[in-house]
Amino acid sequence: MKLNKVQILFPLFAFIFSCVSNEKRMEMVKLSQYMVEGMTLYRNNCANCHGIDGKGLARVIPPLKNADYLLTMTDDLLACQIKNGLSDSIIVNGDLYFQPMPGIKKLTALEAAELVTYVNNTWGKESGLYGVKKAEKALLQCY
Ligand code: HEC
Repeated sequence: MKLNKVQILFPLFAFIFSCVSNEKRMEMVKLSQYMVEGMTLYRNNCANCHGIDGKGLARVIPPLKNADYLLTMTDDLLACQIKNGLSDSIIVNGDLYFQPMPGIKKLTALEAAELVTYVNNTWGKESGLYGVKKAEKALLQCY
């Protein structure tokens, strides 16, 4: 039997489509896992300063919600900041902040990835998954 184009191409497209959507599905599952874990980590390690709603504390602790600083910083830098802290003075939404933020020395790459994913996708960046592989690489290259 001679196959026509449709008989060849349809199964091919169906196969490609199922691969792509599978990968997407896996990523969505991973994203929701990271969000759940990230929320717990955030509540245990960050919320006492930045607030459970990410609004910060007056002129002492900067907000995360709709913060221009967070929106423009890279994910790798955020992973490093969570691990090593920050002691520079910075400007967030026009206000100057200079209290130091302590780092979490024993933070694992997975925890960093979950925190970055949670923070990004909760307060306005909506940048999707920041995977553990990226966090591992970033944490080796912090300066
Ligand atoms: C002890 C209080 C404290 C804790 C705990 C803390 N931070 Fe901060 N954070 C600060 C302060 C103060 C600054 C400003 C630092 C500076 O001016 O150098 C800051 C700055 C930031 C910034 C950059 C500025 C902005 O608002 O966009 C981000 C992002 C951030 N923190 C995220 C986190 C995350 C995520 C955690 C938890 C892993 C965390 N912080 C834990 C106090 C804290």
